[in-house]
Amino acid sequence: MPEKEMKKKIEMLMLALVIVASVVVVVLTSGGNSRTGTTGADSAVSAAEQKKEISIRNVTDEIVHFSIKTADTSVEPQEVSLEVGKISHFKTSRALFISFERAGRTESYELEEGKPYSFRYDENDLLQIYEGSHGRDDAVDLAPYVPTPMDVVEKMLEMADVDADDLIYDIGCGDGRIVITAARKYGARGVGIDIDPQRIKESHEGAAEAGVEDLVSFQKEDATKIDFSEATVVTIYLLPESNALLVPQLDKLKSGSMVVSHNYTIPGWEDKEIDSFEMEDITGSHHTIFLYRR
Ligand SMILES: C[S@@+](CC[C@H](N)C(=O)[O-])C[C@H]1O[C@@H](n2cnc3c(N)ncnc32)[C@H](O)[C@@H]1O
Repeated sequence: MPEKEMKKKIEMLMLALVIVASVVVVVLTSGGNSRTGTTGADSAVSAAEQKKEISIRNVTDEIVHFSIKTADTSVEPQEVSLEVGKISHFKTSRALFISFERAGRTESYELEEGKPYSFRYDENDLLQIYEGSHGRDDAVDLAPYVPTPMDVVEKMLEMADVDADDLIYDIGCGDGRIVITAARKYGARGVGIDIDPQRIKESHEGAAEAGVEDLVSFQKEDATKIDFSEATVVTIYLLPESNALLVPQLDKLKSGSMVVSHNYTIPGWEDKEIDSFEMEDITGSHHTIFLYRR
């Protein structure tokens, strides 16, 4: 082969190699998208930033369209269409900025690095983005972490008439305050379930501090996948749709067991509601406690 022709062939081969390498890089960096059903937005974040994660879950019943970008104005925002029930994962060590349409207006929010978020409907049935509790693809996000104020905890236990014969389960136990208080105040046994390892750690610490480790235990689990039918009292502080999701498990409780729900009713359990109580906590915030008997 003449030298000139050979050189041209080598150049073409090199070009082909560069193209193949670029395709491989694009496929690798967008690998999370095929896993989560997103549409390439992860590439909005440079490789140097790929340390922490922001996840966004779609808990509505429609595809949510949004755009997301870094603070770097030279980088184009990425348009994402997030399917129902899917999660987008964005590797980033900095805040991201999200925009979406809400009631005909464009809403923009800053999302904090390392945090999970969810698109849900607000009380007016409008699309809104909320903080979540985890970004796991394999588990439902029942509610973000918001602890029940201690005076409300006391009232919940009082309404359920908790005593030393009770076995109390807190579904999504946060820092374990409900089962710890039930053990400390009434000598009740308790189990706290939470999906967040940080909450389970705090629960163990709280139980040790209160000296009730022999009465309570904590499990890092997806609460929708556990059997808590042995409980005599169940406490919940979860979103209404999450309460509805737990009904098949609540239905398995023994007859006479009590369920106490902070702020939200249990859809489908209307005939089991036996009491409710409204109160203000020490900061003046309003709370409602619903009591059910299985
Ligand atoms: C509103 S907080 C309630 C905390 C505690 N029960 C209280 O009243 O102080 C809800 C908790 O549910 C947990 N959670 C969310 N999804 C969960 C799941 N699938 N399984 C178990 N826990 C979950 C969150 O991590 C969070 O700690």
